[in-house]
Amino acid sequence: MKFFFFPTGLAAMILLACTMKETANVVQTVPPTTLAEASPFPVGFAINPSPMQNNARYRQTVTQEASSITADLAMKPSRISPQKGVFNFEGADYLVDFARSQKKRVHGHTLVWYINTSPEWLKQLRDSTELETTLREYIQTVGTHFKGKVASWDVVNEAFDNNQGAIRRDSVDKSGRTLFNVGKILGNDYVARMFQYAHKADPGARLFYNDYGQETIPAKLNAIVAMATDFQQRGIPIHGLGLQMHISIDTPDAGIETAIRKLADTGLLIHISELDVAMNPGKKKDFIATPALIEQQYQKYKFVVSTYKKVVPVSQQFGITFWGVDDGTSWIPGHCQCTDYALPFDAQFARKRAYQGFLDGLH
Ligand code: G3I
Repeated sequence: MKFFFFPTGLAAMILLACTMKETANVVQTVPPTTLAEASPFPVGFAINPSPMQNNARYRQTVTQEASSITADLAMKPSRISPQKGVFNFEGADYLVDFARSQKKRVHGHTLVWYINTSPEWLKQLRDSTELETTLREYIQTVGTHFKGKVASWDVVNEAFDNNQGAIRRDSVDKSGRTLFNVGKILGNDYVARMFQYAHKADPGARLFYNDYGQETIPAKLNAIVAMATDFQQRGIPIHGLGLQMHISIDTPDAGIETAIRKLADTGLLIHISELDVAMNPGKKKDFIATPALIEQQYQKYKFVVSTYKKVVPVSQQFGITFWGVDDGTSWIPGHCQCTDYALPFDAQFARKRAYQGFLDGLH
């Protein structure tokens, strides 16, 4: 017995020592945590079906790092209803099915948006009754389709202008393209009615108003707060406010903190809904991301996250969503026609200092 016991015990000790060494190696090579694991509130990315299907690194990054997703393009009216009376949910359903299989939240974006990415047929409508009916039916159809699957919606996106904080009445954009001039046709209070339609379509969905530039345009920020307060007083079903937060390394911290604080003071859920931090706001040709600029981007991410965590009460922390996953698929270079690196992962999906800035902002 002793003869057999001793070598067995020795073997067990050797085996245990080997296992410990192995475990130590694994701990060193496996990242200590992911964004979703580290964060006390949901962390998300805006994503598209094509790279989810065709790029394993993109899909793996989303799977591991996110607890929430937003559709970048697939839930926009131009994608869902390219022609009047035609509804195409293929791309959006793919994203929703992925999220549900991975137990991730889906934030819907967006039901109504004034801009030229609304489908052509919709932009042509000029009669207020016809437009109102069409939007109501669109919201009813889309809200019902995703009922119980989409946790929340940006009901109206970017309704306010950048000057006096008035509801937009633009007919054309800077390039002369026709805009979907919904505010002029339906009147300022159309925003409230869209929320009522969305609530009717899916009473369980959390409903958000979403806009950009709130950290740099005080008139717009104040107008949004005033509208949200008015909705609350009138019983219009609004549950949250989206702060897009397309910022740059030059965006002043004070404006970021003021925007987060003023929105949080409404008592509504607060979603930093489209976060990215541009490093090349001057659109320089031959741009190089120097160590100094990388450090500024790290600091900006850290400031946004730490301010959100400090200023927004836990019960109002709906989460932070990046507008994209990696620098290779970010919308910014295509938009600015310049080089930029605004997201937490580089084009090879390596974690950047920006990623670390998010993590450090949590502490
Ligand atoms: O896919 C077509 C391509 O086939 C065509 O050759 C090309 C030519 O213009 O266009 C491509 O589609 C573009 C699409 O992005 C994919 O790159 C559209 O023109 C372009 O308008 C579209 O831009 C999107 C924009 O919303 C308008 O829908 C951006 O990707 C998307 O990231 C952006 O997201 C918005 C949020 O919804 C609201 N807040 C601001 C944010 C950034 O602008």
